[in-house]
Amino acid sequence: MKKEENNSVTDATWLNLPSLNLTVKSLLTSYLLVIGLGAVLATVQILMTHGMADGKVGLSVDDIVYSYHGDPAHSKIEIKLNGSMKDKASAADQMKIIKWVRNGAPEEQWNEQIKDVFYQNCISCHSTIPGLPDFTQFEEVKRVAKSDKGASAASLARVSHIHIFAISFIFFFNGIIFSLTTGLKQSFKIFIVSAPFFFISIDVFSWWLTKIDAGFAWLTIISGVGYSLCSAVVWIVSLYQMWILPRFAAPYKVNTWK
Ligand code: HEC
Repeated sequence: MKKEENNSVTDATWLNLPSLNLTVKSLLTSYLLVIGLGAVLATVQILMTHGMADGKVGLSVDDIVYSYHGDPAHSKIEIKLNGSMKDKASAADQMKIIKWVRNGAPEEQWNEQIKDVFYQNCISCHSTIPGLPDFTQFEEVKRVAKSDKGASAASLARVSHIHIFAISFIFFFNGIIFSLTTGLKQSFKIFIVSAPFFFISIDVFSWWLTKIDAGFAWLTIISGVGYSLCSAVVWIVSLYQMWILPRFAAPYKVNTWK
C-alpha cells in the first residue's frame, strides 16, 4: 500500500494540463489572458509608432527601414512633405521649405522668410496636437530638418536589453505551461518552447543590422512573425487543453515532465 502511494507521487500522472486542479488552472489562465491583452496592446503600439513611419497605415518593410535605418539622404521634413504632409502646403511653399532645409536650415532665414510659411501651413496642427513637433519653436523645426539617421545606438542599446530580459521571462513562463500539454509530438513541443528565444535574439540583432544596412529589415519582420506564431500556439493549445479537452475525454494519466 505504502509503495503504491509512493509510485503515484513519483509517477505524477496528474502532471499534464487537462488534469491540473482548478487553482493551478486559474493561475495559468489568468497569466495567459493578461499576456494576451499585453500582446494586443503591443500590436497597437507598434502599428501607431513604427506602422506610421513611412507615412502609410500598416506595418511594412519600409516602416522598419525608416525606424531603424532612417533615410540618411533626406531630412524627416522632406520625407513627410513628399508623403503624409504633401497636401498641407502649396507646391511653392513646399519648395521654399525644402530649399531652406537643404541649405542647412539656417536660423537667419527662419525669422526672415520661413517662419511665415510654417505659420500659414503647419502650426494649426504642429503646436496644438500633443506628440507632434511644435513648429512655433525653431529648435523643433531644426530637429526634423536634420538628415534622418534612424534610431540612435544609445536608444537601440536601451530598448535591446529591456526587450531581451523582459520578453525572455514571458517566453519562459509560456514554455513551462506548454511543456505540460499532452498528446503532442515531443519534437513539436521542443520547437514551440525554444524557437521564441531564438527569434527574439534575431529580432533584436536585426534592429542593429537594419540600422547599418536597410536590407536587413525583412529579418525583423520574419522574427516577429516567428515568435508571434509560437506564442499564439502556446496560448490557444494551453487554454484548450485546460478547459475544453477534460470535458470530452477520460482523465489523462501522463506525466508530461518525465
Ligand atoms: C491637419 C494637421 C496637420 C497639418 C496642417 C500639418 N501636419 Fe505635419 N503632422 C500631422 C500629423 C497628424 C502627423 C503625425 C502622423 C504622420 O507622421 O503622418 C504629422 C507629422 C509630421 C512630421 C513628422 C514628425 C515626427 O516627429 O515624426 C513632420 C516633419 C511634419 N508633420 C511636417 C509638417 C509640415 C512641414 C507641415 C506644413 C507644411 C505640416 N506638417 C502640416 C498633422 C499635420
